[in-house]
Amino acid sequence: MTSSFPASLRAWFADRRRELPWRVTDERGLRDPYRTWISEIMLQQTRVEAVIPYFENFMQQFDGPQALAAASEEQVLKAWAGLGYYRRARLLHAAAASLVHDFGCEFPESSEQLKSLPGIGAYTSAAIASLAFGERIPVVDGNVKRVVARYLALELAADDSKLERSARQQGRDWMEALPVDELAAAGELNEALMELGATVCLPRTPLCEQCPIAEGCVALQVGRASELPLPKRVKKWVNLEMVFLVHRVGARVFLKARQDGWSPGLYEPPSAILTNQVPDSAAAALQQSLEPAPSSGSDSPMQTMASLQNCGVVRHTITHHRIRAHVFLTQSSPAQPGKQWLDPDAVPLTGLARKVLLNATL
Ligand code: ADE
Repeated sequence: MTSSFPASLRAWFADRRRELPWRVTDERGLRDPYRTWISEIMLQQTRVEAVIPYFENFMQQFDGPQALAAASEEQVLKAWAGLGYYRRARLLHAAAASLVHDFGCEFPESSEQLKSLPGIGAYTSAAIASLAFGERIPVVDGNVKRVVARYLALELAADDSKLERSARQQGRDWMEALPVDELAAAGELNEALMELGATVCLPRTPLCEQCPIAEGCVALQVGRASELPLPKRVKKWVNLEMVFLVHRVGARVFLKARQDGWSPGLYEPPSAILTNQVPDSAAAALQQSLEPAPSSGSDSPMQTMASLQNCGVVRHTITHHRIRAHVFLTQSSPAQPGKQWLDPDAVPLTGLARKVLLNATL
């Protein structure tokens, strides 16, 4: 069933593919790694038509990793302005610096090595390695997952990790059916699958009459093409209200390693989850729980409250939790001395702790 799939798909792609500025191939049928990299990063959150002018402008301004590394972050962000998700641009800039300093300006050719560059994960490394260097590794994006879910009639949700695994395995099987002596075959198959998902195997209304692999598509045969993959499961959010207590001494902050739940082993200032208290009294109770046992006649609760300064609220989401964290600065010393006074730049912090510490200034 699957042996004719790669051949039919590649023939369709050769005939019907959209001509796009990053789809230039050399005499071996391989693409330029730099152009592949930039285009795939731009395409991650943005439509093809919107990417084209940005891509052309970017290539004019930064014609290779060296030019990109030599530019200032401001220049790179300016060339990116309008594409959104600016973290992508910062990571591109950082990866260009690594290509220059760690790889002598040459792209590493394997997906494994490519993954060591900032911002290059499983998807982008597989795209560059297969399209530019011929590595036989499947590229799995949302379009590919949809094509595979339908071709095999997998009753799985679009965001189910089982679908991702099945698509990767199916991709590997198809790779094995490719002619061994064609260096460009893996990249072509990957791009053909992405192209099929983007132009024919559409999410709501698949154009099955135009599909080169309709004959083998199980979902089409059983009338399920437009229903698969199943819709993403709706997240059930849990709202959490927390207080954080930040105590600074010079460059050091009182930090605790998380023991359980999310991010175990990463550091945070002491915190408590609010149940029915108001944030100020929860912060005071937390502060008292950290203080040495009072000698007779020492701090009253009122004095404790007075030494707390409210620095406002930060918001954070992690897994299915939506957190509102009230941040307080305190002047009074927690009981445990010594090893918990840490330089926050020197230890791994949770994402929430980074936001909390940014807020905890007077
Ligand atoms: N979407 C992201 N990358 C793509 C590619 N190389 N071809 C078709 N669609 C894509």
